[in-house]
Amino acid sequence: MTTITITSTKGGVGKSSLAAGLSVLAAQETRQVGIVDLDETLGSLSQWWALRGEPAAPYLMSREGALADDVQRYAAIFDWIFIDTSPYDLALIEEAIRVADAVVIPTRTSFFDAMGARQVSDLCREHGKPFGFVLVGYHRSVDDLAQQTEAALSAFGTVFRTKIMFDRCFMEAPIHGKTGPELNAKAQAEMAALWREVKELAAAAQGGAQ
Ligand SMILES: Nc1ncnc2c1ncn2[C@@H]1O[C@H](COP(=O)(O)OP(=O)(O)OP(=O)(O)O)[C@@H](O)[C@H]1O
Ligand SMILES: [Mg+2]
Repeated sequence: MTTITITSTKGGVGKSSLAAGLSVLAAQETRQVGIVDLDETLGSLSQWWALRGEPAAPYLMSREGALADDVQRYAAIFDWIFIDTSPYDLALIEEAIRVADAVVIPTRTSFFDAMGARQVSDLCREHGKPFGFVLVGYHRSVDDLAQQTEAALSAFGTVFRTKIMFDRCFMEAPIHGKTGPELNAKAQAEMAALWREVKELAAAAQGGAQ
């Protein structure tokens, strides 16, 4: 089992959209996919899962105790677990990083967002967890800023080659229990490319490369 945590202390950067998007792609490869929602607020991954019709894959794992115990309980069942966090609870974010095999840190395109993303990357490093930053909500009109943001982030760790474009499909999809990439072919190609990179990162980590 491989556990991927998607987190940032910045709000609205695409954590839940990526958790949904990546878990749906994983579920196309194996039915044994779990998702954990560490955000109790409305409009979170749990509501998306309910709107999707409570599928078996990806399956919303119930929280019963400490996160590490919950993840362990499902270790024999799932091939992949995706953990989505709230941006606010730093202790819980740290717990989610501690149980992860690899961490995905979404960020918007701006210097301040990039600097905000650093906080969790520091935690990842502290706990020896491989991580990658990913630009979400990218638009070619801000290409120069995206390059600056990526350059700033690359000083702190890996930046995934894939960027997730700005598109209304991400805003429209959740209300139908869908993910943006299920509505838009370009978003689909991007999420698939990101998924390949996340798998590479996790495989390298499990192979002891990091
Ligand atoms: N690539 C994208 N293009 C356009 N809109 C997007 C994109 N990704 C996410 N969004 C929209 O941005 C908003 C925030 O996304 P999301 O809920 O995934 O972020 P989050 O980091 O989980 O937020 P929170 O910190 O509140 O949990 C949502 O309205 C979502 O539909
Ligand atoms: Mg969220």
